[in-house]
Amino acid sequence: MNFNIEACKIVELPKISDPRGNLTFVEGGNHIPFDIQRVYYLYDVPGGAERGGHAHKELHQLIIAMSGSFDVVLDDGVNKKRVHLSRSYIGLYVCPMIWRELDNFSSGSVCMVLSSNRYDAEDYYRDYAEFKRGQTQL
Ligand code: TYD
Repeated sequence: MNFNIEACKIVELPKISDPRGNLTFVEGGNHIPFDIQRVYYLYDVPGGAERGGHAHKELHQLIIAMSGSFDVVLDDGVNKKRVHLSRSYIGLYVCPMIWRELDNFSSGSVCMVLSSNRYDAEDYYRDYAEFKRGQTQL
């Protein structure tokens, strides 16, 4: 498995349009290539704030702008890509070993993240140089 930004894909989720309000769902192992063990969300993000700034060793994630919009900058140690998320039926799949930064949050935005594992501090690279060394050893 190549853990690079080419493996990080936009996923269009099912959308059941209805005059009463739209509905979207995500099934682990079906719409995304992992089972969901954890959900977390970022909200009340002040203007100009940046989140992320780390990579995960084994974690797979799907990032969705549930409300408002923000950018995700993906970096595999060689290439970088900026992805703007602004729709609740569009997810960004992020494979392991990708450095990510989130910025450009609109006011009132909510970022939901579906994750393949429970929280584990040992799964993080918080140092970019260490992450790059890990990437070259893959
Ligand atoms: P962190 O992953 O650094 O936030 P982000 O990358 O989204 O900016 O997490 C911030 C803090 O929250 C850190 O102390 C760890 C804690 N945390 C948990 O306890 N459980 C979780 O599921 C997550 C994502 C973070």
